[in-house]
Amino acid sequence: MARRAVALARSERSGPALSADAILAALVEATIVVDGDDTILYANPAAEQFFGTGASLLVGHPLDEFLPQDSPAFSLLTQVRLSAAAVSESGVTLSSPRIGARFVAILMAPMHDGDQRVVISLLEQSIARKIDNQMLHRGAARSVSAMGSMLAHEVKNPLSGIRGAAQLLEQSLGEEERELTQLICEETDRIVALVDRMEAFADGRPVERGPVNIHQVLGHVRKVAEAGFGRRVRFVENYDPSLPFVWGNRDQLIQVFLNLVKNACEAVPEEGGEVILSTAYRQGVRLAVPGVRTKVHLPLVVSVQDNGPGIAETIREQVFDAFVTSKVNGTGLGLALVAKIVNDHGGVVEFDSEPRRTAFNVMLPMQPVTREEPWRSGS
Ligand SMILES: Nc1ncnc2c1ncn2[C@@H]1O[C@H](COP(=O)(O)OP(=O)(O)OP(=O)(O)O)[C@@H](O)[C@H]1O
Ligand SMILES: [Mg+2]
Repeated sequence: MARRAVALARSERSGPALSADAILAALVEATIVVDGDDTILYANPAAEQFFGTGASLLVGHPLDEFLPQDSPAFSLLTQVRLSAAAVSESGVTLSSPRIGARFVAILMAPMHDGDQRVVISLLEQSIARKIDNQMLHRGAARSVSAMGSMLAHEVKNPLSGIRGAAQLLEQSLGEEERELTQLICEETDRIVALVDRMEAFADGRPVERGPVNIHQVLGHVRKVAEAGFGRRVRFVENYDPSLPFVWGNRDQLIQVFLNLVKNACEAVPEEGGEVILSTAYRQGVRLAVPGVRTKVHLPLVVSVQDNGPGIAETIREQVFDAFVTSKVNGTGLGLALVAKIVNDHGGVVEFDSEPRRTAFNVMLPMQPVTREEPWRSGS
């Protein structure tokens, strides 16, 4: 790695000079260096964020001020020093009063400078997990999309035949039997509505995107909700007024937040139901999303939070899969469609759920900054 940095620094490429400091500052991994006594010698900005304190309060202090002695980090440190080789472990929980409980992947490497110094990188696994989930959703969305187009052909056509036949029969039947033909019509209508929803997945065209004011989208969704399924719910808006435009498709984003707000309204208690819509700009989160070569910058976070009982434990792993539902009349397509649309936008959706606080967080890309603004180029 050191050799590569030197190679980069010496390369003839143009652009601002590349310094090791700038590289360390850009890392998403919280990176620190400790000496032979486990005193912190260096902390990058991601480490400051991870430990919730500035570098000046980290450097010169023993690591066990921030992590308890019995934490797995210390056994890994011993291991690195004994083996003089890098070690890594994922799925480690680090907890202390200062940092709370954090789920991380740890990578430690000796510096080989005869001083027992060790470089420690910590990567929050929620980010890694988001990427994994993202892959899962892509698969789920794909299988539904194949099924959507199949159903449209194979099911809708025969259904319209069945419905037509039932209507014909109805004319020659008595009052009592007519109820049965009406039942056939109602049930076929229900299936057609379901297939229509699935057809939304079959649309494989690339999304037409433009700058979208997400606050307008949320305002629209709120109005729709207040006129119907969210009549008894109190809405709270917690917006960052300086939020840049999302780079997306307005109609599809309305669909995303309508599905999320509908779920939230269906989850809250009859009395005192509350749904909080919030937006925030989160600098510096870049994710390596599968299938995309460069890391994507997803700084816009839109959350829909409710005070319902939380997502049932048994379906947590599959909530984004199609047909997973805990509702009597649910189709389980709402969140699958959310996942598909957010994926098509190059974004990520994830949730945090506990009783009285369930939040679905959608991370979206912002409008790209163009070098040449067309209205100024004179063309
Ligand atoms: N805010 C929430 N709080 C608690 N559980 C939720 C929440 N959102 C989703 N769920 C759970 O996830 C399941 C799947 O949601 P999804 O929107 O995909 O389908 P649905 O709401 O059941 O049906 P549909 O959206 O098709 O009407 C729900 O049945 C519910 O159990
Ligand atoms: Mg739903």
